[in-house]
Amino acid sequence: MHDRPSSRLYLTRRHKCAIYGTIGVLWVSGAAWLVAHYFLRQRGPFGDAPNPAEHWLMMAHGAGAFASLWLGGWLWRGHVTPWRRNGTRRSSGNVLLWIGAVLIASGWLLYYASGESLRAGVSLLHWSVGLALAAAMLAHALRSARYRG
Ligand code: HEM
Ligand code: HEM
Repeated sequence: MHDRPSSRLYLTRRHKCAIYGTIGVLWVSGAAWLVAHYFLRQRGPFGDAPNPAEHWLMMAHGAGAFASLWLGGWLWRGHVTPWRRNGTRRSSGNVLLWIGAVLIASGWLLYYASGESLRAGVSLLHWSVGLALAAAMLAHALRSARYRG
């Protein structure tokens, strides 16, 4: 059993707003981009054309991606390391860390990967892991109550 942690370890309402806000922007903009890209293509004078919303959605997504780098740095120092030091292991937390690592690495590759098939593979990996983030986050949140004294 782990020691009962001090209340300083618990995430406050403001912390949770920052976490859910950033992840929410990323998830919603990513999912909406998928809908616009695969289901709402427009007909232009030269055939199918991308939906103009894709550009704005990726702008929001990019803002969320930069915010997540700040959030990740803060979470590591303020949430992950303290709980680990405390001896608390949470498999859902580790799953979230792995998902974050894959999203950051594949997000970076989406900018720089050249070649159609490599980019298509990285894109598929990125958004399928991204969609799964919602389930992992839900599992992590739903079981949090038992860690609070
Ligand atoms: C990027 C990875 C992570 C994210 C985004 C994250 C996010 C969160 C959020 C939002 C909550 C509050 C849930 C709620 O009440 O709505 C929470 C709770 C908790 N997390 Fe994490 N977590 C991560 C990784 C981890 C890891 C690796 C551990 C363990 C070593 C951990 C341990 C806990 C514990 C013990 C709680 C319950 C106490 C509290 O609410 O502060 N988390 N986490
Ligand atoms: C830490 C989290 C994340 C980071 C750092 C990140 C980063 C990125 C980056 C840098 C791009 C390329 C943007 C561009 O080409 O203009 C991208 C594209 C994309 N992301 Fe994310 N992302 C994250 C989470 C998510 C999530 C949760 C989803 C959920 C669906 C998602 C879905 C997408 C989609 C659909 C694209 C477009 C793919 C394509 O152009 O083929 N991402 N992301």
